[in-house]
Amino acid sequence: MVLLEPTAAGAPFSQRVQRCFGRSAAAYPSQARLQAAVAERLARWLTRLTPAPPAGIRADLGAGSGLLARAIERRLGGPPLLRLDSCPELLQLETAAAPPQRLWDLNHGLPPELQGAALLGSSFALQWLEQPQRQLEQWCAALAPGGVLALAVPCAGSFGLWHQACRRAGVPFTGLELPEAEPLIQAVTARLVPLRTQRLRFSRPNHGALPFLRQFKAIGAQASRGPRLSRGQLRQLEQHWPSDGPNLGWEVLVLVARQSP
Ligand SMILES: C[S@@+](CC[C@H](N)C(=O)[O-])C[C@H]1O[C@@H](n2cnc3c(N)ncnc32)[C@H](O)[C@@H]1O
Repeated sequence: MVLLEPTAAGAPFSQRVQRCFGRSAAAYPSQARLQAAVAERLARWLTRLTPAPPAGIRADLGAGSGLLARAIERRLGGPPLLRLDSCPELLQLETAAAPPQRLWDLNHGLPPELQGAALLGSSFALQWLEQPQRQLEQWCAALAPGGVLALAVPCAGSFGLWHQACRRAGVPFTGLELPEAEPLIQAVTARLVPLRTQRLRFSRPNHGALPFLRQFKAIGAQASRGPRLSRGQLRQLEQHWPSDGPNLGWEVLVLVARQSP
């Protein structure tokens, strides 16, 4: 296992992300139901690929507790995927027997052994990186001929109602700014052959501001680039939280693409 090196650019935010996930790691497996469902969906898509991904090294980038890696191993068979993540507490939750793991900050790009990878999977992780599109371009470039990218990433169309409530309440939006789907799709299609692309919407019941915000904390996904809301601002947000309106849930870009043989 390689120890995480201190990063230069953007270190404070990536360390905050890691700390938040670390503190909530024990609850992640029971709380990350959406992530588990998306991992299964991505793995199912991979079973329909003809030809199957070539032989060679496979990895789950931002693997966390290994949901996607295990789903792929279970459905596709083959050697275990290398689990890469910057959060040791999440990697330690892995339930598979001694899988290959690497403590690694993906803001540094990929480790050298992933150049020429047969399969790179990543689910709900790219959005945490400093430059999601740039990293995604490097992931595409690292694939071997015929190698496969399997990606799920929440995008900017998420949480319309939360944005609306912040505007009404006159308080800053404190969620993570999510990447736009279209430039990510273009970055992939400029480098790989797209096999399947969907923008999926996952909505959730609207029980008000606090239960909504608590879902992020429950899995450690609450790190924000801005300051936290004060108690007064939180009260304002609760008071202006609409009972209905635009999408409250996630818009998730899910895609599978292949490097030309
Ligand atoms: C929401 S979790 C998703 C985990 C897993 N892929 C899943 O679907 O359950 C986001 C993951 O990205 C990881 N992550 C965030 N920033 C990272 C970075 N700079 N380098 C490596 N991993 C990172 C977190 O530690 C966390 O495990």
